[in-house]
This record gives sequence, structure tokens and C-alpha cells, in this order.
Amino acid sequence: MRVCSLFASRSCHIFRSLQNTLVSSSTRIAAVRCSVTCNEKSVYYVTTPIFYVNASPHLGHLYSAVIADCSHRYKQLQGFNSKFATGTDEHGLKVQQAAEAAGKQPLTFCTEVSERFEHLFRSCSISHTDYIRTTELRHRQAVEHFWSVLWNKRLIYKGSYEGWYSTQDESFLTPSQVGDALDSSGNEIKVSLESGHKVEWMKEENYMFRLSAFRSQLLDWLRGNPKAIQPERFQQAVLQWLQEDLPDLSVSRQRSRLQWGIQVPGDANQTIYVWLDALVNYLSVAGYPDHHDRWWSVAHHIIGKDILKFHAIYWPAFLLGAGLRLPQAIHVHSHWTVRGKKMSKSLGNVIDPLEHSRMFTTDGLRYFLLRQGVPESDCDYTEEKVIKLLNAELADSLGGLLNRCTAAALNPAQVYPCFCPQAFPRDQGGRAAAEDYRMLEAVRNLPFVVERHYESMHFYKALEAISACVRQTNGFVQRHAPWKLDRTDGKDLRWLDTIIHVSLECMRVYGTLLQPVVPEISDKLLTRLGVRPDERSFETLDFLPHLWQRDSPFEGRALGTDTGVLFSRLETLRTHWRAVPAAA
Ligand code: MSP
Repeated sequence: MRVCSLFASRSCHIFRSLQNTLVSSSTRIAAVRCSVTCNEKSVYYVTTPIFYVNASPHLGHLYSAVIADCSHRYKQLQGFNSKFATGTDEHGLKVQQAAEAAGKQPLTFCTEVSERFEHLFRSCSISHTDYIRTTELRHRQAVEHFWSVLWNKRLIYKGSYEGWYSTQDESFLTPSQVGDALDSSGNEIKVSLESGHKVEWMKEENYMFRLSAFRSQLLDWLRGNPKAIQPERFQQAVLQWLQEDLPDLSVSRQRSRLQWGIQVPGDANQTIYVWLDALVNYLSVAGYPDHHDRWWSVAHHIIGKDILKFHAIYWPAFLLGAGLRLPQAIHVHSHWTVRGKKMSKSLGNVIDPLEHSRMFTTDGLRYFLLRQGVPESDCDYTEEKVIKLLNAELADSLGGLLNRCTAAALNPAQVYPCFCPQAFPRDQGGRAAAEDYRMLEAVRNLPFVVERHYESMHFYKALEAISACVRQTNGFVQRHAPWKLDRTDGKDLRWLDTIIHVSLECMRVYGTLLQPVVPEISDKLLTRLGVRPDERSFETLDFLPHLWQRDSPFEGRALGTDTGVLFSRLETLRTHWRAVPAAA
């Protein structure tokens, strides 16, 4: 092990002023972290929507799951005990019809498709702690109990429903939500203005929920909790809907029409409405009706914008009715389009996420979805964009930086070399430039910035900030061209070691912060840097301790094994989507 001989005994004024800036930002970070980790909120519960099994998973489904996964992993790295639930929505007319069309028993059909979702999630590093299927006994019992609570409180009554229904959306619509259209054979049909799906007139005896009674409580909840639904524009949309008519809601269907579902307790002729059934999944996983308090008080739902009404109006009203707390937050994301068009089977443009995770690697696809996905607005998915982004940011920028700083030519001893404080400040004969100090400050602040964006689920902003710092670090290396330094000269050697040390420290920060987004790449990066698994939490992240004249646990440590390039460049030939072999 080499020991740095020129450990600074005094600091220059630039160094001191940098320290001052960093002290204040570091205190701020510590304070923010403490409020997050030291209070009672050491538990976290995040959910995805449960996915309909009438068709195979597509990219939009994986997107919901990747967002929830990233948030779950982030909370774990912060030291939270986090629960992460996903699963499948298996009841309802749509699924009943899909099973019939496939000539299968409904449960057999559901099991097959549900397993496809599970397989996709396993393949894409979705680290859920619970997988719920609405056909499970634990769920049926929770739904029956929930129904009985609402019934006993007289919030459900027997009535009749007459109006429009969309089977595809499993949704009731008011006349103002319906418009005219032509089907593929040119026949006039009525469609939902929001989804474009066909609607039918239905008239049925069934059970109604007193939704209309909850308008003012819902308004109070949203006005008193401006961050209940995020991003803000979706909260505004819900407030707007609440200004409109809020009729009571039909919460059952006649069993003669819908057999595939949970029977209304005490009425063999009615089946519980699939959305009421499905929404209760969040409680089933939390342990409802006996042990749900711990998790239910910290529930966060991730949903796509198309299912906002169900989660932001029906669900809170049901919960208020049942005397349960409302979720801490509902995080809404927008949709993926393909070359500007909505993904649909009829257009033949549905993206198979499994196929694309093989083409671009699991982490590659995860990175793209979170780097490009903007919660507030729809985003377009094209293979060209994926390739361009991954090649630029993962292969060239991050991968290139690691390669440079661990290459035998610059780092023959294959260690984390020494940082020499006297070599760094400009006025002590060091060679650091003003940009270098700016870079250090940006990297020092990065965990604070990233945590803020992870917290609000603006993953693209976090990744943008990381990417900007990676570029700055590449610039730092490029600026000082360590390959031109003379290893036989003591001063040159100390400067060279310092450049590599600082760059490795930057990469340690990037690798740690990227863990929730690209777990495999981060692991590879941190392992190569010799960072042990117990040194990877957000709390213990301590960038460049030498700046504070503290010892670095990494200095002199052997690098980990070289297992090849961090992320292989992707070829651009349409017919040969595959990673370029490491040797190329
Ligand atoms: N089963 C209901 C949810 C019940 S939750 C109590 C459902 N299922 S779904 O399979 O149709 O959709 C699940 C999720 O996928 C939703 O969050 C939806 O917004 C999301 N996506 C479906 N298409 C999408 C895109 N094109 N892009 C992004 N996400 C989209 O709704």
C-alpha cells in the first residue's frame, strides 16, 4: 500500500472557502436526511396498480412497476423498512370474455397471464415484496369484510343503475363523457371521450354506493393536502372533476351477466364491481382487516393517468366510508406513445417489454424509461432514442470514465490511489482549476439534489443531474490528461494519483445514487471500485473525506475484479439489435 507523503497541514483560502460552502450544504443534507430517517417514518409502503390479465404485459405496465421499484429501492437505501406490492387484477367482464375467447377456464387463463407478469417483473429486477392476485382467498376475505363495513354503515343501498358502461375500462360514464364514433366496419357507436373505448347502455338492478355524500370530504382532503396527488396538475384535474356532478356509484353487477368476480355477501345474484374489488388489493396486502395499520398509514400509490378517477375519487370515498386513512400520496405518471401514437393491438405497435429488455438489457430499459419518462406529460418511445441515450450516457460517459480511471496504464497498482491535499489547491503548487472546485461542489451536493427528485418521483431530473456530474468528471480527467504525466516525477505522480482518487470518489457517488435505477450496473461499478455491500447506503455516502481532512476508508484499497465493460455499446442496425461484445 502506498502512503501519500504530502498530507496537507494547512489549507489555502480557496480550499477553506470551498470547505465553508460544503459544510453548509452538508449540514443541510444531514438535516434533511435526519428528518427523513430519524422520525417515526421508518416504514414505507408503495404499490403499483394491479394489472388486468386480459392481455399480455406491455411497456406501460412495466413503466408503472419500474417507478414503484425505484422508489422502493431508494427507501431501502435510506434505511426504511419498505413494502412493495404489485400483482394482477383478475376479475370482471373483460377478463371473463378474454378467457372465453381463449377457450379456457377463467382461473386457468388468469394463472397463465399472471405468471407472465411475474416472469416479466423477475426479469426486469422488480423487487416487489408482495405479489397479490385478486383470485386469492386472502383478498376475497378482505373485500367481503370491506363491503360489510360499508353495508353496515348504510353507505351501500339496493337500487338500479341506468347509464353508459365501458367494459374495456370497466367504467361507468355520464352522458357528457360519451361521444359518437364509427367502428372498424363503419357502424355508428358510442365511445368514452377519454379512452376512446366503446360504451354500451346498461340498465340493471344492483347495489349503489353513496359517492355523492363524499364530495365535501374529498374537497377538504385535497385542499388540506396539496401534495396528496402528484404532480400538481393531476390534483387540479381531480378538484375540477369534483366541481361536476358526482352521482352515486353502482358497485355490483347482476351475476347473470358477470359470474367472474366476488359475490356480494348475502346476495347470490350480484357480483361486486371489479374496481371496488381491485382497489381493496392495497389493503389485502397491508393485512386488512386485522393487521393493516402499520403499512396502511404510509401507503403511496403509483398509477397511470388513465386510472386517476378510480384512485383519487372512488378509492378515497370508499376509504372514508370505511373509516380508514387515506393514502399518503398518489403519484401519477403519463403514458408512453410509439411514434406519437397510443399503443394499441389494432395499430400493431404494442411494445413487448420482455423483448425490449433483452435487446437493451434490463438496466438499459429501466434507465431509458426513468431518464426519459416525465410524469407530467406523455413521452414517445422509439428504439433509435433508446440506443442513442444508452450509448451516450451509460456506455460512453459513465462506462468510459470507469474505464479510464481503472485502466492498467493509469492505475497499474489497481488500487484506489492516494488523494494529496497539497497537490489539489491551486496556490500550493497544485494544479486544480476553478472548474475542478465547481465540480467537487456539484458532486458534493448531488446526493441532496438526487434525493429531492427521488422523493418527488421526478427520476428524470435526478438522472439528468447525475449525468451532468458524470460529464463534469469526464471533463476534469480530460482537462488534466493524467496519461501525459510522468510517473517517475514525485509531484506528477501525486497529482496523477489525486486525479484518479477524485474521479473514483465521484464514481462511487454516482454508483451509489444510481442503485435504485440500474441495480446491476451500479453493483458492477461499485464492485469494481472495491466498495463493499455494507458501504453502499445513502446514509453512509461520504464524498471525498480527505477534503475534510478525514481518512478515507478507500485509500489504498485494492480495486475489485475487472468483469468487463460497464455497459456495452448498442448497435444501430434495425435487424441486429444486440449489444456489441466487450472486445469490440
Ligand atoms: N386493473 C387496473 C388497475 C387496478 S389498480 C387497483 C388497470 N390495469 S391495466 O393493466 O390496464 O393498467 C395498469 C397500469 O398500466 C396503469 O397504471 C396504466 O396507466 C399503465 N399503462 C397502461 N398503458 C400505458 C402506457 N401506454 N404508458 C404508460 N403506462 C400505461 O388499469
